[in-house]
Amino acid sequence: TTPTEVDLIGKNEVLPIYKPREKFSHKGTFGHGLIIGGSYGKIGAVNLAGRGALGVGAGKVTAFTPKCGYIPLQSAFPELMLITDKDEEKLTKIEFDVDVNAIAFGVGAGTDQKTVSAFEAFLKSNTKPLVIDADGLNILAEHNNLLEFLPKRQTVLTPHPKELERLIGTWKDDFDKLDKAKAFSKKHQCIIVIKGANTITVAEDKLYVNVTGNPGLATAGTGDVLTGMILGLLTQGYDLLSATIFAVYLHGKAADLLVEELGYQSFIATHVVEGIPLAYLDLF
Ligand code: APR
Ligand code: MG
Repeated sequence: TTPTEVDLIGKNEVLPIYKPREKFSHKGTFGHGLIIGGSYGKIGAVNLAGRGALGVGAGKVTAFTPKCGYIPLQSAFPELMLITDKDEEKLTKIEFDVDVNAIAFGVGAGTDQKTVSAFEAFLKSNTKPLVIDADGLNILAEHNNLLEFLPKRQTVLTPHPKELERLIGTWKDDFDKLDKAKAFSKKHQCIIVIKGANTITVAEDKLYVNVTGNPGLATAGTGDVLTGMILGLLTQGYDLLSATIFAVYLHGKAADLLVEELGYQSFIATHVVEGIPLAYLDLF
């Protein structure tokens, strides 16, 4: 066991990270994010991630989805731009000609063999900061050889407990889990966000324990919103660690502020998006 430094992340810790908007800024100032994901029946995950990214202030967001994403996303989400795969139902070849500053891969993507190949080809050519979630993590866990193609010190992995177990193996207790996560983070030079109540961000030997969030978040799609929020801070030029811990903080705070009105049971992922403005305003 290596000595560990642990920081609690609350308002006092994120305030110095926050970058105020300047009068002469324009949408180009805030960058362009790309979300690669979705499959037949799971297009909503891309919608939620897109709202998370724009909600934290990304200048522009483009999604890359299978063709079946076209009508629902173009109809329901006017702020989102969209490029589609040739395949109707799943990702098979990831080709885009837009210049983006950061990319998120995996929400709703599925694990079809063609999607695995598409992800592999994408990883081998990508150099942009990358957030990998959901089926992107499941693919990495099944195909360990792909880990070497993660952009070094430019990757954030956002597993829930099951996804983490697939990635790092089972653990004896929480100390063992954190040791394994630290070892993985060091070996693959990536940040790991261990999601749950009191989400812990692991950056090599350092641990950042988030203090916001509540059980209202235990509902489908809230993780997809978080993925988009990390992406949206990365496109604005926040460094990898700052974007991650700030997004985790805002995500939990957004839920805390709205759950007071809505209650735990009725809280859904869309409410996280609606709470983001309140979470920003609450900083001051
Ligand atoms: N307290 C505080 N926060 C919580 C709690 C809790 N009790 N339970 C969950 N959360 C937060 C987590 O920290 C995380 O930010 O809610 C979010 C849940 O994220 P996911 O588990 O990824 O859930 P979801 O968005 O539904 O995932 C969508 O992707 O990961 C796959 O298998 C998953 O199919 C599912 C899809
Ligand atoms: Mg998830």
